[in-house]
Amino acid sequence: MKSLKDGAVLHNGVKMPWLGLGVYKVQEGKEVIQAVKTAIEIGYRHIDTAAFYQNEEGVGRAIKESGVPREELFITTKVWNSDQGYDTTLKAFETSLQKLGLDYVDLYLVHWPVKGKYKETYKALEKLYKDGRVRAIGVSNFQIHHLEDIMADCEIKPMVNQVEYHPRLTQKALHAFCKQHGIQLEAWSPLMRGGELLNEPVLVEIGKKYGKTPAQVILRWDLQNEVVTIPKSVTPYRIKENADIFDFELTAEEMKAIDSLNQDKRIGPDPDNFDF
Ligand SMILES: NC(=O)c1ccc[n+]([C@@H]2O[C@H](COP(=O)([O-])OP(=O)(O)OC[C@H]3O[C@@H](n4cnc5c(N)ncnc54)[C@H](OP(=O)(O)O)[C@@H]3O)[C@@H](O)[C@H]2O)c1
Repeated sequence: MKSLKDGAVLHNGVKMPWLGLGVYKVQEGKEVIQAVKTAIEIGYRHIDTAAFYQNEEGVGRAIKESGVPREELFITTKVWNSDQGYDTTLKAFETSLQKLGLDYVDLYLVHWPVKGKYKETYKALEKLYKDGRVRAIGVSNFQIHHLEDIMADCEIKPMVNQVEYHPRLTQKALHAFCKQHGIQLEAWSPLMRGGELLNEPVLVEIGKKYGKTPAQVILRWDLQNEVVTIPKSVTPYRIKENADIFDFELTAEEMKAIDSLNQDKRIGPDPDNFDF
């Protein structure tokens, strides 16, 4: 893990950069184009969007305008809940691809485990994978029991599980389960959306030692935990700051001190109890 180009190797051999740019709540058009282009210029090679974010067109345009060859980039998008089901997912995938202006995506995810639907949705992802339309497939917001349920009769194990993950929600059991099954864990809202966590004294103190901000300490903790991370920012200096995490290493004690900030506290919905 020495640079933005380093990545986790998924169980099918595909490399997924450890750090990417998240674009949830980034406005379609100028804002998203600017953020993605800035990130790619700085050296990011991984962008995380979703049909739900309604900014796939801008992401696609930024990719084109960046001038970076497509094969050097890792692009994730996700099927939204209202499109879940087999045929509807296949259709939603074509729409996403068209909006992105791409002929494949690197990772396609089931956005949420919609009861009674996510298995059929995942079957459609398996088809897309077998047809060579996506380089990897996975899930998001899946708890251990959802993963067990999927794995009981899937042909292709999910390669990734993208979940809420930060020092207030360390998800130890889920992380261990994913590791055991070769499923790469990926952190959403790694900075807890920039709230109180960024003033946490433990993180401030550790940051002082290395000349790093609390945000950088958190993202470094993700990397050392072997968790792919996708902080969102539309602010150029923060996009840069979030990527400047490859030149220091947290000690085992510091990793433990950060782990101990856990409160099993979510800022997003509970995957066992959501209604959208
Ligand atoms: N699968 C899912 O269900 C799911 C759910 C939520 C998110 N996600 C993905 O995960 C990505 C990240 O999560 P998120 O967007 O919810 O939250 P986040 O990355 O934890 O936090 C983003 C917020 O933190 C601010 N920020 C970024 N870098 C900072 C820094 N260095 N110092 C201080 N503040 C900083 C940003 O402000 P500015 O933009 O103003 O700079 C923004 O308000 C999303 O964009 C999306 O791609 C997935």
